[in-house]
Amino acid sequence: MANFSIIVSVDQDMGIARKGEIPWFLPEHFANLHDLTTQTENKNLKNAIIMGRKTWEYFHSQGENFDNRLVIVLSKNKDLSLPQNVLRFESLDDTLFELSDHNDIDQIFVLGGGEIFKEAILHTDLERIYLTNVESSFKSDLFFPKDIPEDFEVASTSDLMESDGLEYSFLILERSVDHSNDQYFDFNTEEE
Ligand SMILES: NC(=O)c1ccc[n+]([C@@H]2O[C@H](COP(=O)([O-])OP(=O)(O)OC[C@H]3O[C@@H](n4cnc5c(N)ncnc54)[C@H](OP(=O)(O)O)[C@@H]3O)[C@@H](O)[C@H]2O)c1
Repeated sequence: MANFSIIVSVDQDMGIARKGEIPWFLPEHFANLHDLTTQTENKNLKNAIIMGRKTWEYFHSQGENFDNRLVIVLSKNKDLSLPQNVLRFESLDDTLFELSDHNDIDQIFVLGGGEIFKEAILHTDLERIYLTNVESSFKSDLFFPKDIPEDFEVASTSDLMESDGLEYSFLILERSVDHSNDQYFDFNTEEE
């Protein structure tokens, strides 16, 4: 299976949405999301983005077309109508399994929403979380899971920035490397 990252913006209560929409306007988050999901090390590759059906409908209604990325929508609805270049899968595992066979895919990003984050955060192939922290409370009714696995640690934090009165920062959380099986050279056994 293929490793993947999450991209999410949260308010100070870890909220991600209210009444089916993101209740803050932070174009810098979407610019960052655009950069992360379009940049590849090799120009012949592209990135894949995975989202739940409701998140897809939200982005689609905003006119977002996710150029230059392989778009995957998770839905159990076999009759779901999607543009020709958008793929539907019935589970996150199916998607990751299928993508691990695609040698034209560089990185994989999960973009939400709440249902998909719940599953993705517990997945052993999750390696990184790009988290935009919005320093205000928006009375959200949908939340990012609070139980981020303990082996994730903050790898980098940006300065606190401001956009149209809204303070925010970019954090990257990474799964820490497990050193428990590392082999160390034992000086005591060295022959004299
Ligand atoms: N703040 C942020 O960064 C952020 C990011 C993304 C989204 N959002 C917000 O989050 C909200 C949407 O989140 P949500 O939880 O309501 O919906 P969602 O996770 O976007 O989509 C839920 C739908 O995805 C499908 N689904 C869920 N789990 C699945 C699985 N394991 N396998 C196959 N299909 C699966 C189902 O579709 P079917 O019913 O068709 O089977 C389900 O109804 C929106 O308000 C959006 O604006 C916020």
